[in-house]
Amino acid sequence: MNFIFLPVIILYPIGTYLICVLLKNQYIRNNMIQELKESKETVEHADRLVKLSKAIGKKLKLSDDNIFELELATTLHDNSRIRKGRVIYMRYIDLRSDTVTQPTKSMREAMYIAEVGDDVYQDDPTVNELEALAAKMLGKGAALFVPSGTMSNQLALMCFTNRGEEIIVSADCHIFAHEVGAAAVLSGANLRQLSFEKGIYDAKMIEKAIRPDDIHEPRTALICMENALANGNVFSIEIMEEVYALAHKNGIAVHLDGARVFNAATALNVDVKELTKNCDTVSCCLSKGLCAPVGSVLAGDTKVIAKARKYRKMLGGGMRQSGILAAAGIISLKDMTKRLKEDHDNAKYMAKKLIELEGIEVDLDSVCINMVFFKLNRPEELLDSLPEKMLENGIKINGCELGEFRFVTSNDVSRDDIDYAISTFSKFIV
Ligand SMILES: Cc1ncc(COP(=O)(O)O)c(C=O)c1O
Repeated sequence: MNFIFLPVIILYPIGTYLICVLLKNQYIRNNMIQELKESKETVEHADRLVKLSKAIGKKLKLSDDNIFELELATTLHDNSRIRKGRVIYMRYIDLRSDTVTQPTKSMREAMYIAEVGDDVYQDDPTVNELEALAAKMLGKGAALFVPSGTMSNQLALMCFTNRGEEIIVSADCHIFAHEVGAAAVLSGANLRQLSFEKGIYDAKMIEKAIRPDDIHEPRTALICMENALANGNVFSIEIMEEVYALAHKNGIAVHLDGARVFNAATALNVDVKELTKNCDTVSCCLSKGLCAPVGSVLAGDTKVIAKARKYRKMLGGGMRQSGILAAAGIISLKDMTKRLKEDHDNAKYMAKKLIELEGIEVDLDSVCINMVFFKLNRPEELLDSLPEKMLENGIKINGCELGEFRFVTSNDVSRDDIDYAISTFSKFIV
């Protein structure tokens, strides 16, 4: 064999391979650019934009007006001229609620690989794991994964009451004000509403509202508390303990609507079990500030959770391969509970920026979690126009309700977002 051909024999396949890779990359790049041109320079999904920026080796930059820009100075395949393009992707800053949070990347990955079974047979390993974790973290014997906070609350009401019995609630609470009268329909129960100052529970008022054993009166079967409160406030463990003690002294169960119980624990700087150890059931939402796409958990002793499981089936909430959803919920409990302080600090930061604006009234002491409520002294017409004007600038807000705006921070809202949102807001309220 002639050794002169040896380098050719070795280099030929390597060279061919490199040319193929080069051609393939060029093909992908050209296709993306073509696709971009066809989409009239608007890219709807951030993922595509990121992919594209990587393919052409250019960095994304965020312009002042909250638009992602990607400068394309590249040789296009039509007639090899240098052109400049601009890609626009409108990312909304959503201050409407913490229910709008997007599932995180690790949640999406966990959901993709989740091992599932049939949860009505109770053999979905991921749901079982979530329920065991929730029970442990909330200090209870068992937990049940349910589709929503509303169902979780209503299951507790069904478990503890008979038709015609009474439940003591706050006049502002979610169970009374925002659950479409479900207590009347599902439990046939009477809701006795008490109006607390700033929504903060008062054990003495509750004690007075407990019915005596009288032939004319409904039996008080349940007391419901909510912490954190939907008005953004958090009240103390001492008040909660007073209510637990007086309820149990009178043989009455307590359900805690803890849709944001981890926010409350974060605000009080205690382990969540300090708030839940003496309630009979607690409901906790995974799909608010904790970012899961769907779901809540109801925790209590094994007997009450077995009863709730049957009622959940009755309401059509028995789910099958729900481990797909539970996989995200596990990350909510394990990881997302640990970062809530960041949302709370951001809310305080936002409140301080708002207070600097003329005509805005914020009660800073009430900014305990991720919500900022404020009054704005302006004509009604201007107030009504604000959601639309903000939307045009990439910011979603709710309208003024009962004289107040509510801005909410979450995992998807950064300090930069807050700066941009408040400076935009300030321009529209002059
Ligand atoms: C305090 C409280 N409880 C319960 C719920 C109900 O949760 P869901 O919307 O999942 O039914 C909410 C919803 O915002 C809430 O704020």
